[in-house]
Amino acid sequence: MRLIGRAQRRTDQGRDGVAAGTAFTFRAPGGTAAQLSRVESRLRAVAATPDERLAELALHGIEAGGKRLRPALVVCAATAVGGGDAVGERVIDAATAVELLHLASLYHDDVLDAAPLRRGRPSVNALWGNHAAVLGGDVLLAHAYAVAASLGTAELRRLAHTLTALCSGQIAESAAQYDVARDLAHYDAAIRGKTATLLATSCWLGGWTAGASPPLAEALACFGMELGVAFQIVDDVLDLYGLSLQTGKAAGSDLRAGVFTLPVLMTLQRDPGLVELLTTEIDEDGVAEVGRRVRAAGADRRAIALALDHLEIAFGHLRDPLLLAEGVALLAKLAGLVVEPLKRLGVGGDGRIRAARRRNEVDVA
Ligand code: FPP
Ligand code: MG
Repeated sequence: MRLIGRAQRRTDQGRDGVAAGTAFTFRAPGGTAAQLSRVESRLRAVAATPDERLAELALHGIEAGGKRLRPALVVCAATAVGGGDAVGERVIDAATAVELLHLASLYHDDVLDAAPLRRGRPSVNALWGNHAAVLGGDVLLAHAYAVAASLGTAELRRLAHTLTALCSGQIAESAAQYDVARDLAHYDAAIRGKTATLLATSCWLGGWTAGASPPLAEALACFGMELGVAFQIVDDVLDLYGLSLQTGKAAGSDLRAGVFTLPVLMTLQRDPGLVELLTTEIDEDGVAEVGRRVRAAGADRRAIALALDHLEIAFGHLRDPLLLAEGVALLAKLAGLVVEPLKRLGVGGDGRIRAARRRNEVDVA
């Protein structure tokens, strides 16, 4: 099964029956394809409720496919704790729960952003309106909690805290719209909340449901958190140049929404004249001009360097001697795929990633 990584247009039914719109996909690392197929089946089974309208709403997002990064992290983290045999029903359920929560957040996010497309298909709000999208997100959230409740109180509580973090990150981002004085600490806190916490929870749940001790599960969560920060920085740099993984997004969609991300905030520190451009309504030419000024200030490269720093910190959390090499190699492979899109900017950072892995004695699957 192809899940993540190389850009690939898919408008048909995937080989494994995973309907995917126009999507960027990752290649499932190592032997995880079969396990991730089980997650796909579970997602569909959970969403197929007797209420046909609710089922249609929930299945729309599920069938659009996507990278399935979060379920892949659950499965790989579980493998790092107990090997491939540890990936039993509890791990599959944990992977299902995190993807359902993620999908719920995307339904709501597309309402907030008035986004017409998601994963290369019309968003739920574009197809059926905001009411349906909010309620569709709610039902996905209910499914996520129902699945997590079958795992136990600790798992359910972790998911609930994750949702709080998501809301906190998103509301912080919304509050900073058009704020040219937004500082880097604010950006860091917002992306940890809206993106990285769910990656951390995915790794925690994978480890925990595979039998990890609390400290080992937390080490995995720290890996996921740092990976999540790197992932969001990369996505924000790509967005500026129209290279986002989210198909159909125009260049500078963050700028147009008044969301000033790391490369722009770094540029503002050296080029205060940028303020004028950012505070008037920005068109295509304005976006291109911001992109040029970000490059001139070297802020694209500095933002990417920071993402790679976070990736190195992530690798450091995989050094725990209790983690199995087989699973660590899978997690390292996933981490590489997350930053692979940097190649679209002509700055792959491959050498730095290899060096960071070497320094932390992390092999790759
Ligand atoms: C996408 O970010 C959005 C998120 C990662 C989280 C949004 C969170 C909420 C809407 C809080 C409510 C959550 C639930 C589960 C009810 P983006 O807009 O930067 O990325 P995009 O390009 O994929 O839209
Ligand atoms: Mg969005």
